[in-house]
Amino acid sequence: MLIKKADDVKSSEITDQKTYLNRRNFMRAAALAGTATATGLLYRQFAVPAGPEVRGEKIAVVQTPAAEIIPPIDEKLTPYQDITHYNNFYEFGTNKGGVAANAKNFVTRPWTVSVEGLVQRPKVFDLDEILRLAPAEERVYRMRCVEGWSMVIPWVGLPLAKLLKEVEPLGQAKYVAFETAADRKRGMQLPNALDWPYVEGLRLDEALHPLTILAHGLYGETLPPQNGAPLRLVVPWKYGFKGIKSIIKISLVEREPPTSWNLAASDEYGFYSNVNPEVSHPRWSQAREQRIGEFGKRDTLMFNGYAEQVAQIYAGMDLKRNF
Ligand code: MTE
Repeated sequence: MLIKKADDVKSSEITDQKTYLNRRNFMRAAALAGTATATGLLYRQFAVPAGPEVRGEKIAVVQTPAAEIIPPIDEKLTPYQDITHYNNFYEFGTNKGGVAANAKNFVTRPWTVSVEGLVQRPKVFDLDEILRLAPAEERVYRMRCVEGWSMVIPWVGLPLAKLLKEVEPLGQAKYVAFETAADRKRGMQLPNALDWPYVEGLRLDEALHPLTILAHGLYGETLPPQNGAPLRLVVPWKYGFKGIKSIIKISLVEREPPTSWNLAASDEYGFYSNVNPEVSHPRWSQAREQRIGEFGKRDTLMFNGYAEQVAQIYAGMDLKRNF
């Protein structure tokens, strides 16, 4: 992820506490921004480190959902090695190529997810209970990172709606808030890069949309730690940072919940963060993207190619203002 560089911070901005806090975010971001630029040189930084592949366990039942619900994709899958060695998971460091090694010993069992808030039946679910809620489905989705690169990933997961229906959301529930574990005892490093825990949110209708899944695998195997084991969110029409990893808490709430990247730089990362080639990031265009493994850039598609499935839920909204 890219936030502002330290040079962008004017000395006039460091007078009161509010600007001090902004500056603190900029300074943290400076360390991160050094590694990538949204230029044509991006591809060079995608060299995936070699190294032993740590494979997950095979997932027993993998169903393919009906084509009328989940549009099939006629695009080449990104290789397993690239998906699992070019990662953003700041709890394990800010160097994409180092996350897999840093997360190797992440303890993901036992694991529970508390589903709470404005619901009839709040419950702390053991991971296995969640996995039993629905057959494992293979979902091949595009993933578009806000930084300008993309992949095609064969996730394995279940609809988030299946879990939410278990707890019976109340009428006042309008949003869903998600939280990642922030736990050094499990092996996380939690560097001074963001405020922990990592948090994300969706509108309730987005969360219940049939394309929205909780992924627990990829390429037919359990999710490796670096991709968000044991359970992470995948919302294919939004920028990749909405896909919060290693979830331990899901709360149904009345108001729009805070999200990590919006807290870090609200002018750069909005709550909705729908993929939109017409809305530029303040510091680069989002019109094109670099598919990992390809030479040359391709056009970015509105809603990442899922407009037919999702455009109607934003009917009447100003997507430039609600970016
Ligand atoms: N979730 C947590 N908890 N921490 C993170 O740093 N990074 C996000 C998202 N989920 C992140 C996270 C970003 S910026 C992206 S692009 C995707 O995860 C990357 O997912 P991947 O490594 O599986 O490709």
